[in-house]
Amino acid sequence: MTESQAESDMEVSAKTLGEMAARSTPLIRNHWYVAAWAEEISRTPLRREILEHDIVFYRTEDGLPVALQNRCPHRSFPLCRGSLQGDRIQCGYHGIEFNPDGSCAHVPQLKAAPGGLRIESYPLVEQGPFVWIWMGGAENVDHSKLVQQPWFTEPTWSHVKGYIYMRANYLGLHENLLDLSHFPYVHGAALGRPEHAEEQPTVRVEGNVVHSSVVHRNVAVAPKYMRATNLVQPVDRTSEQFVPSPAIHVGKAILEDASDPKKTHVRYIIHCPTPETLTTTHYFWAVARDQLVDDEEIDAESYAGASKAFNEDKEALEEIEALIARDRRAGFAERIIATDKGAVLMLRAFARMAEEES
Ligand code: FES
Ligand SMILES: [Fe+2]
Repeated sequence: MTESQAESDMEVSAKTLGEMAARSTPLIRNHWYVAAWAEEISRTPLRREILEHDIVFYRTEDGLPVALQNRCPHRSFPLCRGSLQGDRIQCGYHGIEFNPDGSCAHVPQLKAAPGGLRIESYPLVEQGPFVWIWMGGAENVDHSKLVQQPWFTEPTWSHVKGYIYMRANYLGLHENLLDLSHFPYVHGAALGRPEHAEEQPTVRVEGNVVHSSVVHRNVAVAPKYMRATNLVQPVDRTSEQFVPSPAIHVGKAILEDASDPKKTHVRYIIHCPTPETLTTTHYFWAVARDQLVDDEEIDAESYAGASKAFNEDKEALEEIEALIARDRRAGFAERIIATDKGAVLMLRAFARMAEEES
């Protein structure tokens, strides 16, 4: 591509794609975000900040997950430092107790709990390994926005999963996930193939949902997939992604080999960026497969490969965040090139979602 072609692509993008979500865009609340892995929430209170809200998580005696405002409305003591009394959480400063719905159950110094004394309670949904939290207020809950993922709940599938804490804005991770062209440079030969930098995904938007797909034909399978798939080289690899919200990228990799009849291997690669703040992100990821589901060696290989790659992304994104924080260069603005089309469409969808909430 010539420089003038790239330039004209930039202009087309700027003119036709409209406003994009940026670091100054308010966090988008009316979606289900991953709050924790199911096993992290127990009878020991867990504190986690999500979309700039300090939240305490625990389970009732029947095992239901609870999410409450972590800040006691009396003197702001963190409730996570208190204790559980049956299904209630008791503040560790003056002993006020709260129910799972956020209402006040008991004030030790008073005969009756004041009705107006309450804390925010957040709707949760447990789905396989994920606990999703609704950050847009209980009155706006929309269960249709929860992505159904049978590959995490049905016994014919197995998965590996991981968590990465990133000192970086969540939008950078979203851009990274739609951008295959960084593979050879950030991830090296273990994951990146020359075709990642050459072949452009086809991108389309339906409503606010971004879909991206690319097919690489007659390619070699990356070394880490060889034993897991038992495919015959070369393969055609289709990479599909859809981004229904700022909380999740659903990736599907389909490998089809050269045997007759062809063998096919499918994996789902799920990325869930949950903003902690505008400069820090909880990154939950999981990879699901429906072959060799009981093979622990494949689990270990799959975990090691994904974990290595996603930590390489974390390093790159944290470098970017740190540079943005320290550089005071006047008038700097990032430039869009043709390969950024998917990211631009996605950021524009996010801008529309933020606008709808405002
Ligand atoms: S600060 Fe929680 S009861 Fe006083
Ligand atoms: Fe990456």
